[in-house]
Amino acid sequence: MPISQTNQPRRTLLLTGASRGIGHATVKRFSAAGWRVITCSRHPFPENCPWDAGPEDHIQVDLADEANTLEAVAEIKRRLETHELHALVNNAAISPKAEGGKRLGSIDTTMDVWHHVFQVNFFAPIMLARGLVDELKAVKGSVVNVTSIAG
Ligand SMILES: NC(=O)c1ccc[n+]([C@@H]2O[C@H](COP(=O)([O-])OP(=O)(O)OC[C@H]3O[C@@H](n4cnc5c(N)ncnc54)[C@H](OP(=O)(O)O)[C@@H]3O)[C@@H](O)[C@H]2O)c1
Repeated sequence: MPISQTNQPRRTLLLTGASRGIGHATVKRFSAAGWRVITCSRHPFPENCPWDAGPEDHIQVDLADEANTLEAVAEIKRRLETHELHALVNNAAISPKAEGGKRLGSIDTTMDVWHHVFQVNFFAPIMLARGLVDELKAVKGSVVNVTSIAG
């Protein structure tokens, strides 16, 4: 079933963690359905990516960095010329592992690591939603927070 009807105005999705994994598959799926997808990740847009709209719709941001995340919000608002955002998908997340791939525990994980994890996985999604709430409200947009059992 198509995600959007072709006779509707083009919808816009902001997706974090678009460079690989579930995020990359999400970009492909929504683009194929006619959505404009604005992507976010730490890496620049790869030159070998066969995406027409890619570089113009890619925001390079480190969501672990609060100031950089706020700059990205401002840049995203500039790129949303119609001031409309139909969906914010907070997909980027990290789950650092201990030696041997073991899950980190509360006791043996340093506070620096906890702060880093919470900034990327928890505070950055809140900052994006707060920063883009007007654009989301304008079209009754949705916020989708992707998480994992590790959360
Ligand atoms: N894979 C699974 O089995 C699984 C299971 C359950 C839930 N999930 C959830 O699904 C989501 C995606 O998982 P995945 O396995 O597809 O992830 P992944 O392959 O590890 O990719 C993570 C994405 O997040 C971006 N990212 C990481 N740190 C970032 C930062 N500081 N700032 C900006 N972007 C950052 C990465 O891009 P850059 O490296 O370019 O920054 C990458 O695009 C996560 O929320 C995860 O918790 C995954």
